[in-house]
Amino acid sequence: MVIKLSAGAFAVSVCLSLAFFVGHGQPVLADGGGGKKHDVADTVKKEVAIAMKKNPRIGAALVRLLFHDCWVHGCDGSVLLDKTPDGGSTEKDAMNNIGLEGFDLIDRIKDKLGESVSCADIVVLAARDATSILSRGNIAYNVTTGRKDGVRSSAAAADAVLPPSTFNFTQLKANFAARNFTQTELVVLSGAHAVGVAHLSSFRDRLDNATATPISVRYQNALRDHVEDKTTAAVPDPTEMNNIRDMEFAFRNASGYNATGVDTSRAARGVLDNSYYHANLQNKVLFRSDWELRNDTTGAAGRDMREFRDDAAGWYVLFGKAMAKLSEIPAEGSRFEIRKNCRTTN
Ligand code: HEM
Repeated sequence: MVIKLSAGAFAVSVCLSLAFFVGHGQPVLADGGGGKKHDVADTVKKEVAIAMKKNPRIGAALVRLLFHDCWVHGCDGSVLLDKTPDGGSTEKDAMNNIGLEGFDLIDRIKDKLGESVSCADIVVLAARDATSILSRGNIAYNVTTGRKDGVRSSAAAADAVLPPSTFNFTQLKANFAARNFTQTELVVLSGAHAVGVAHLSSFRDRLDNATATPISVRYQNALRDHVEDKTTAAVPDPTEMNNIRDMEFAFRNASGYNATGVDTSRAARGVLDNSYYHANLQNKVLFRSDWELRNDTTGAAGRDMREFRDDAAGWYVLFGKAMAKLSEIPAEGSRFEIRKNCRTTN
């Protein structure tokens, strides 16, 4: 355990020192609005930090945005498009993109960086910075730059490849394998559900005993009460925190949450750490897809979850590696550009 921790801490500090540089170790400069050269990585980092200070919710949104951009046609900024030359609905309209946020911040960063930096690179860099801040510097990784933006975006294409919360273990594993991600990487990246929120419609199946996959009865009851109180005609699909750690004390207490090994102080709310595994191993997670990680008949996914629950430093390193891999999924297609505006093709 001691060796694991120090190896993890070493890897994190090496990554942190590398993290200042993107790509091949040189700061990348870009023309901003006034013709002034900006260090791209520094500008993104600064803007993400400012935005997260104002609205801590935005960090989780940026982490999810990376997954949802890179999973569909690779990392090509296609998730940001409001319209394409082909017309029709874009990825933003996909069912599986419910609740996606962060677009205004990406626009703001694009305005600062000008026309030489792709929207796809901004998504990648912003997710990296959000991950670092959300994890209090524990997760750092290196990414390249130089991506181009795609010109295709369709809701149907996004729904065909993004995993819905109702997927079972076999479907999740196949979905990740199709992108060349391993079962362990599936378990590692699902740890992102330590942060952020979800709409009732994404976990309603877990509240209905006819459709629920195994869920702690006390958690289920507390969740049902909590979300019913929030549901009104004006807000038919309210949100709840993904992580039981981030619920108020009374809720955690009513759910019988065992917080051993989890920092439940106010300051730790919203932190990206390994507490997802503590919650999942207690059957206290929102999505069926989360619970399904326990449903691996070989037992390997369960072993991974117990390891990540007990070795935060090890999980930080693996999460950083998997996010770096996600960030490098090559864009697919034949027409690319660097968009002037992230919401439309040139
Ligand atoms: C394994 C398959 C996955 C499924 C089925 C899944 C599903 C979902 C769903 C349904 C939501 C809530 C959407 C809503 O109702 O608003 C969500 C939220 C989120 N997901 Fe996943 N997800 C998966 C993997 C990932 C991965 C790989 C990442 C990132 C590496 C990720 C990061 C997040 C984050 C950060 C949120 C919260 C977003 C926010 O608060 O704005 N998810 N996910």
